[in-house]
Amino acid sequence: MLVLEKNPAWMQLQQHQATLKDLSLPQAFAQNPQRATQLSCQAAGLFYDFSKQLINQETLPLLIELAKQQKLNTAIAALKNGEAVNNTENRAALHHLLRAKEAPQDNAFLADCYQKINVVKQRMKAVADDIISGKRLAPCGKPFTHIVNIGIGGSDLGPTMIYQALKPYQQENIRCHYVSNISAFDLQRTFELIEPEQTLFIIASKTFTTLETLKNADAAKTWLSAYVTEENLGKHFYAVTSSPEKAVTYGIDESAIFPLWDWVGGRYSTYSAIGLSLTIGLGYDNFEALLNGAADMDQHFFNAPLEQNMPVIMALMGVWSVNFWHKNTLCIAPYDARLRRFPAYLQQLEMESTGKSSSLDNQKIGHATCPSIFGEAGTNSQHSFFQHLHQGTDFTPVDFIVAAQGVEGYQEHQDWLFSNCLAQSQALMSGKTETQAGFEQHKSMPGNRPSSTIMMQALTPKALGALLSLYEHKVYCQSVIWQINAFDQWGVELGKKISTEIHAAMFDDEKLSQFDASTQQLLQRYKQQKG
Ligand code: F6P
Repeated sequence: MLVLEKNPAWMQLQQHQATLKDLSLPQAFAQNPQRATQLSCQAAGLFYDFSKQLINQETLPLLIELAKQQKLNTAIAALKNGEAVNNTENRAALHHLLRAKEAPQDNAFLADCYQKINVVKQRMKAVADDIISGKRLAPCGKPFTHIVNIGIGGSDLGPTMIYQALKPYQQENIRCHYVSNISAFDLQRTFELIEPEQTLFIIASKTFTTLETLKNADAAKTWLSAYVTEENLGKHFYAVTSSPEKAVTYGIDESAIFPLWDWVGGRYSTYSAIGLSLTIGLGYDNFEALLNGAADMDQHFFNAPLEQNMPVIMALMGVWSVNFWHKNTLCIAPYDARLRRFPAYLQQLEMESTGKSSSLDNQKIGHATCPSIFGEAGTNSQHSFFQHLHQGTDFTPVDFIVAAQGVEGYQEHQDWLFSNCLAQSQALMSGKTETQAGFEQHKSMPGNRPSSTIMMQALTPKALGALLSLYEHKVYCQSVIWQINAFDQWGVELGKKISTEIHAAMFDDEKLSQFDASTQQLLQRYKQQKG
């Protein structure tokens, strides 16, 4: 069992937390006029205010001490230098290289990867430019007007979220659609929206074995073949995968396959050819601006000292909350409806990366790791679960994300949106005493509930790229402190295997008996009721 509680920095933090049990955030602000500026930082166009966390001036230095004891600096260098930080699969994690602005020096492996990345980027750009300009037409002779990305998890969540977040940058005459679920609703709804003869399908799957994606791709092929000739069918499909041979076997033309590499994790792959739909739907320049924003944050992360390093500080605020205040939830509240899918994107990024309980050296671990993540765009969230955040029996830390500039032409809306965002963090912190509540207990609010605010000037491709990189590196830092591998996901395999067995039992009664009584009963009902 890996026990971090014997680590001297950990012990010091535990003692320190005990002294802060009665910390009053409103008082801390009143006593120190510099608190807000001292507990904020900026990088790559983002401003991070963590002054409403349950900390004082001693907390961050102690957390930095923990980071040092866990050799965070060495781990950051390992990530940067392409070492096999994904130890269970013996792979590097080079999502940062996908957006690097310059070729790496003195590292042949990285230089080779960089060169491969650039070849693919050039192809992505050519395809996007040709489709947007109309140089490349659909086989029917008209422009492509619909792009359907078929993928799930990391092959869907990033592109879907980014396409929606960057609505003002969308190409006018091209619409991107995202189909992920094996529940056929997404597929059905998309078929209703698209012009078959002017649609390009992208089958995005790192492994090219994912059930949902392959079934949806099959359905798309069948559907499309009612509208286009067999000869032209293949001209409506691209594939993005790290197993090109599987895509070829599936029937995709070799020239229509974009490669991906094992050193890019699925949930970190948006910046690779998994982002092909974005290059067409937003234009290559906007995709590149997203990569540049991420690259700026990468540079900050790789070079800034720990105590001024935004992803490091954010990671440490999380560790502080999870391991020393024992909070196992985190709320993500983006105050921009265009970021509606951001919490879902982060759920995969964080929970698939650090929702783990075995250590890098294969021991069970004795400390808490990733909190449960939930969220929704503000102000909608205020009218659903914020009641729980304000008056629930336990507290959940919140990440507020907000831009100074909102949807163009709606300044009044933006002023109210921003006011609401600040009002929520203020209300969580200051609360309302029983006296202030006129001795009506049900109106009082405990306050002292922590939050951080990430602010940007506007939700541009560059700012969004920086935001994504910020969270990716935060996750990595936490994995280093918790001593877990952020880049594998063995926990999702068992369910996939069992679903295949259950599917087989659906058509074979003998196989049914191997399951528990509950599963058998539900399956029997399914068979009776499926119609
Ligand atoms: O089920 C989990 C997972 O393996 C994710 O890690 C991944 O992003 C998703 O499935 C999709 O995988 P693929 O891109 O190989 O289809």
